[in-house]
Amino acid sequence: MIKNMTKSSDATDLGRATSSNGGSGSDSASTSFSRDSLRSSHALPEKASDEPVSVTKPDIGTSTQCVHAGEQRQKSEGAIASPIYTASTFTFESTDAILRFVEGDEKREEYGRYGCPNEKSVEAKLAALDGAEDAIVYSSGMAAIVGLLMTKLSAGDEIVFFDQCYHRSREFCSKHLSRFGVITHQVPTGDFDALESAITPRTKMLVSESPTNPHLTVVDLEKFVAVGKANEVETLIDATLATPYNISPIDYGVDYVLHSATKYLGGHNDLLAGVICGRHESLEPVRGMRGILGSVNSPQNLYQLERGLKTFALRMQRHNENGLAVARFLEAHPRVARVYYPGVDSHPTSEIAKQQMRGFGGLITFELKDADWKQTSRVVDAAQMARIAPSLGGVESLIEQPYVMSYYNCSVEDRRRFGIADNMIRLSCGIEDTADLIADVDQALAAK
Ligand SMILES: Cc1ncc(COP(=O)(O)O)c(C=O)c1O
Repeated sequence: MIKNMTKSSDATDLGRATSSNGGSGSDSASTSFSRDSLRSSHALPEKASDEPVSVTKPDIGTSTQCVHAGEQRQKSEGAIASPIYTASTFTFESTDAILRFVEGDEKREEYGRYGCPNEKSVEAKLAALDGAEDAIVYSSGMAAIVGLLMTKLSAGDEIVFFDQCYHRSREFCSKHLSRFGVITHQVPTGDFDALESAITPRTKMLVSESPTNPHLTVVDLEKFVAVGKANEVETLIDATLATPYNISPIDYGVDYVLHSATKYLGGHNDLLAGVICGRHESLEPVRGMRGILGSVNSPQNLYQLERGLKTFALRMQRHNENGLAVARFLEAHPRVARVYYPGVDSHPTSEIAKQQMRGFGGLITFELKDADWKQTSRVVDAAQMARIAPSLGGVESLIEQPYVMSYYNCSVEDRRRFGIADNMIRLSCGIEDTADLIADVDQALAAK
């Protein structure tokens, strides 16, 4: 059974999580309520409050956090949905007001590149979901990883990657950070001896995804963090495929957790966003760098993300159910040679997945028996409900063949090295009814 996510009592203080944005946000204690007080009208503040709702109690469930965390209890004009503050700049009533702001006596908004009210509530919600002190939202997942690494690394520094990380992240390091004198090492995913051996006195960060895309390899976070701590090197986990619903890397001591919010967090295949969660102090310079890089979202996009997050936990329940059911169906299908899904026993990392994940998500990769790339593409083309597209984690099921979608321009050797087989299909199970999804996959597998 999938355990619902709870937070430790020293987890996110949403007031603190929202106070760090270039001089805006509220530092004061947040309104706090427990599950019992939620049910009681006496828990409601007597008058309008512009402080964010704090849902940090250990007994607060993920769905409750999704709906309420980070948002002001009483919003402008009493609107229940967050107003979209369509402003690129924020006015000051006088020079005195500017001085209060620049001297740090008053927290408020200044200019859209440094933050905006819609960003604050989304960041606080995401920090709460990940059990982190702070969260920084970016214009995409890639902007988030670039923003973090550009802040933390300098010429001469080194970084070690597990080699199944998202190929664009690896490309950024090997092709671009290298131009600024940063050295990237890649070691086989899950090989902790190789990870340890690749560390030098100049190593600044260890990076992995868990589970990885598209092989769904789950990394033992306890071991990963232990290697980092023993060598005094920070750790970054891209948990896009797991989401905060299924895994809590911060609880294992991971320093930075990254998500492409384009996927499950936004959840509707209608926006791009990224987020990094971690300790407030460590993220302060990262936030400063984002203000320089300018990789922020529009208030409209942020509102859309907040709206998507309201149903995040509900959607994840269905993604998890669909993923597991379809993976089991595929395992038993005569045309399927191999299934990559951490929730089935045949996956090499299923044991560690069961220990550290609460569910296994909606992404499944599988290989067809005795099929070349063309025959494999006919199965993809035969899908009637699942749509052919890159990406994952949205309400609509998506299907693709990695060989033609993301790796077409790779050499054969590189495809072999990355483990991308010609007969491989990646299916992102949406939230459709399980039986309909299985029926669609079943009829597609009949295509020759
Ligand atoms: C695991 C993972 N991390 C990061 C990213 C990059 O996110 P975005 O597309 O939002 O830039 C992706 C995109 O597919 C991804 O799959």
